[in-house]
Amino acid sequence: MLLRLLTPLLLSCVALGAQDSADNLLVLTVATEETDGFRRFQRSAQCFNYKVKILGQEEEWHGDGQKVRLLKAALEQYADNEDLVILFTESYDVVLASGPAELLKKFKQAKSKVVFSAEAVAYPERRLEPKYPYVSEGKRFLGSGAFIGYASHLHKLVAEWDGDDETSDQLFYTKIFLDPVKREKVNITLDHRCRIFQNIHGSEGDVVLKFENGRVRARNMVYDTLPVLINGKGPSKLLLNYLGNYVPRVWTFETGCVICDEGLRSLSGLKTDDSFPLVVVGIFIEQPTPFVSEFFKRLSNLQYPKKRIQLYIANHETHHQKHVEKFLQVHSLEYNNVKYVGPEEALSNFAEARNAGMDICRQNPECEYYFSIDVQVVLKNSSVLRTLIEQNKSILAPMVSRNQDLWSNFWGALSSDGFYARSEDYIDIVQRQRIGIWNVPYITNVYLVKGSVLRKALSQYDLFHSGNLDPDMSFCDNVRRKGVFMFVNNRQSFGHILSLENYKTTHLHNDLWQIFQNIQDWKEKYIHPNHTLALKGKLIESPCPDVYWFPIFTETACDEIVEEMENYGQWSGGGNRDERLQGGYENVPTIDIHMTQINYEKEWQKFLLDFVAPITEKMFPGYYTQAQFDLAFVVRYKPDEQPSLVPHHDASTFTINIALNSVGQDYEGGGCRFLRYDCSIKAPRKGWALMHPGRLTHYHEGLPTTKGTRYIAVSFVDP
Ligand SMILES: *[C@@H]1O[C@H](CO)[C@@H](O)[C@H](O)[C@H]1NC(C)=O
Ligand SMILES: *[C@@H]1O[C@H](CO)[C@@H](O)[C@H](O)[C@H]1NC(C)=O
Ligand SMILES: *[C@@H]1O[C@H](CO)[C@@H](O)[C@H](O)[C@H]1NC(C)=O
Ligand SMILES: *[C@@H]1O[C@H](CO)[C@@H](O)[C@H](O)[C@H]1NC(C)=O
Repeated sequence: MLLRLLTPLLLSCVALGAQDSADNLLVLTVATEETDGFRRFQRSAQCFNYKVKILGQEEEWHGDGQKVRLLKAALEQYADNEDLVILFTESYDVVLASGPAELLKKFKQAKSKVVFSAEAVAYPERRLEPKYPYVSEGKRFLGSGAFIGYASHLHKLVAEWDGDDETSDQLFYTKIFLDPVKREKVNITLDHRCRIFQNIHGSEGDVVLKFENGRVRARNMVYDTLPVLINGKGPSKLLLNYLGNYVPRVWTFETGCVICDEGLRSLSGLKTDDSFPLVVVGIFIEQPTPFVSEFFKRLSNLQYPKKRIQLYIANHETHHQKHVEKFLQVHSLEYNNVKYVGPEEALSNFAEARNAGMDICRQNPECEYYFSIDVQVVLKNSSVLRTLIEQNKSILAPMVSRNQDLWSNFWGALSSDGFYARSEDYIDIVQRQRIGIWNVPYITNVYLVKGSVLRKALSQYDLFHSGNLDPDMSFCDNVRRKGVFMFVNNRQSFGHILSLENYKTTHLHNDLWQIFQNIQDWKEKYIHPNHTLALKGKLIESPCPDVYWFPIFTETACDEIVEEMENYGQWSGGGNRDERLQGGYENVPTIDIHMTQINYEKEWQKFLLDFVAPITEKMFPGYYTQAQFDLAFVVRYKPDEQPSLVPHHDASTFTINIALNSVGQDYEGGGCRFLRYDCSIKAPRKGWALMHPGRLTHYHEGLPTTKGTRYIAVSFVDP
């Protein structure tokens, strides 16, 4: 059962109504533009095997009357056809939720030649409401968004049309319906109880998703019906987008997501780097952020030909100048082009920087994609850019969330004032209990936009302003207004968003302090990759009795700790050392800087507790430690300063001694000798820890460093 729950829930429309006979049913729709909404409609129709004819594709849009004109022209050839049933519907904000067989059955049950959708209010002229026939249950008023009827009767319905394209179609049909003679002649009824048509506008609360027998349907709770066609025109667009994520799909536990994979663009067939689409990658640093160097490492490891990437880096933080410059020094020539806007150029604001980046792609006809990424986003999979391109969506974000909570880079719903609202499926999507590609009202931090969409629907330069909204919300607001869909993809674990809380810029290597806020990233940067083997008891050496030796730090950790100490610079030598001697804390004095001096004691204790204590408890069974320490410090040995340390006991139950640089490379000599066993470790390994009992047995000395400078990090644990 557990396995079943953990298996991704996948969606498909395989075999949905595929066997329905649709021979005497034709769907007519008007679409002067191929919007994302239209493509969604088409997919839902294909899914159920509807026969669809699109009208008006070659025309400019003038107004609703155009729909009647086009329908009238299309019906000429069916004037006498008494068998053919025609569904006429809008398509930009419509999805089909079931197949032709169910539609025909429900149409025939309505016992009329023409059935219109029904609405809760009369539009466009409310004053006509009293003229409507009374109904005991259901919606009373005619909606022209969709109707179904025999071709011959529809032909009669529109025969009188001679209005111009700007005239209201709804008013035209309403007047026919309200004329008892015409109503009878054409034989029109309304679908009062939403058995066929669900208009969501004005009835948002009536519709819920019902998951039953492996299928999902939108159900009208008021009339207890399962509508076949759902229209989300107007302000209920977003609700339709939500429903459209599930309808007309079928829930299965199997692998495969048929709808998601339609219209894929494959990059795998591309033979040469030159044939890859050109991508502008916009990188934004808007606040002090940990692990920026790691961000740029991942960027440079992205599996995509750099010659097909143009970089635009907008950095608003002086603190990060050095990280960006270091990356650019090494890599900038590998890219097709690089534009770096640093903090000194004082871009007027964040929105302007984002507008400018996006416009680089918009203005270059060769640019096929704009990939925007904020520096706090950690994308783990180096093929992410290719994966996103292959999905072939107008706008697609890889889902990323913060490790410690439900914060993510998308919203599942909007509140009525346009801010965050939690959709029913939000948590399931963030936690990947439901997997797919989701149409959502808001995305941020990282997303891919098609260049062609920027040059058409989103051609307005200033997308990152809208009223008083923040740039990210403005962008989404503008995108929604233009009818472009934003999708978020959670079919893979793409990565996470760093926590920016408590990130301070007061040290040289501030990432070292991130062990609490971003432990996963901290661990990847600083803990030796083979430490996990040591945790399993492998790779732990014992060079002397009860002395254990195992990998703990990466080279980067060693280097940054040494640089941090040298940057702090107050190595004990004079008074400081004598005081400590008098206080009796240390048996023998060293040239050192204590973790407390650089405000690193809490972080160091967590490091000892998380990464050292498990190994201590493994090697000294029965001993449990909370990794308390009074003394933890970095020692510097130099031939002309302090080259060695006389034999002594440590004031600890056990001691951890980590080599922070390399013998042969950084210094010569050095090492540690345990006198009782006459056993020496003469070639300490950088990043490896020596662990040994402190008192009684392991009387030891530091062997002389003869050349260069040697650094070790020493902790006296459980004094
Ligand atoms: C439509 O025709 C049927 C008979 O075919 C009739 O029972 C019904 O009353 C008619 N409806 C209208 C609105 O005229
Ligand atoms: C990608 O999407 C566009 C627009 O939706 C479509 O016209 C095109 O055919 C799709 N590409 C492929 C390879 O299916
Ligand atoms: C990265 O993405 C590719 C393409 O989707 C996938 O095949 C691969 O398994 C992913 N790798 C990891 C480590 O998740
Ligand atoms: C980790 O250990 C394996 C042997 O167990 C070794 O081959 C590899 O080089 C080690 N990795 C590092 C980064 O030291």
